[in-house]
Amino acid sequence: MPADLASKADAIRWYHSIDLGGGLVTKGVDDSPVRLARLDLPPSLAGLTVLDIGAWDGFFSFEAERRGASRVVAADYFSWHGGGWGSKAGFELARAALGSRVEDVDIDVMDLTPERVGQFDVVFFLGVLYHLRHPLLALERIASVTRTLLVLETVVDMVGIGRPAMAFYPGRELNNDPTNWWAPNLPALHGMLRSVGFDEVRTVTPERSSIYRAARAVLHQLRGKNSLAEAYRQDRAVVKATKRQG
Ligand SMILES: C[S@@+](CC[C@H](N)C(=O)[O-])C[C@H]1O[C@@H](n2cnc3c(N)ncnc32)[C@H](O)[C@@H]1O
Repeated sequence: MPADLASKADAIRWYHSIDLGGGLVTKGVDDSPVRLARLDLPPSLAGLTVLDIGAWDGFFSFEAERRGASRVVAADYFSWHGGGWGSKAGFELARAALGSRVEDVDIDVMDLTPERVGQFDVVFFLGVLYHLRHPLLALERIASVTRTLLVLETVVDMVGIGRPAMAFYPGRELNNDPTNWWAPNLPALHGMLRSVGFDEVRTVTPERSSIYRAARAVLHQLRGKNSLAEAYRQDRAVVKATKRQG
């Protein structure tokens, strides 16, 4: 591993933990390999085009390329342009270090259209939905650029309430982060995805037990993230939504 790569990587504040080879793994706050395992991605994406919306440092874009995708486009705006604590430097360094051909497009999810970016066989929308003020409109935009499969990972809230429902966070209610706005429960998320044109919607993550959620709620409260009652109703889930061809 070239010494200057290690020192360049050290100078960046990373979100993703990316293995750059030669024993160098970026010091991301996100446990990216653990999250990858929960996505249940097809082992091969050979010949498919992939759009990764909200890609940040690009861990999932590079993974799609590693699985054989013929073209991968990483899209982001907020983190790449100083909206939060991140930057585009990690994505650019990792792309060069990996010798990757992943393309990048600086675009807000609300501006996605087939005319601007084209359509993709597979779309990743991971960890972004709850950051959006207009989630149903965003899902319409995403459906318009998805040819077959959307893989969506998000916070869910109102867990255990049978009716479709969404929690609204006007302040810092979710993880003490003012950039979080909404989280649906699974019935709402499935209904939203069907309403924007997906034919089949399937949750791929198991629902966690009430004991697990109670224990995690205590932990969240101790860390000053969420109130006990709110955290108990929250979880993360992965959903796959598909469009029938023809
Ligand atoms: C929690 S990070 C998730 C990063 C990555 N997708 C993952 O799952 O590890 C949220 C990402 O969403 C992006 N984001 C937030 N609002 C966005 C918007 N309106 N359009 C596009 N990306 C957005 C942020 O820039 C950031 O990269």
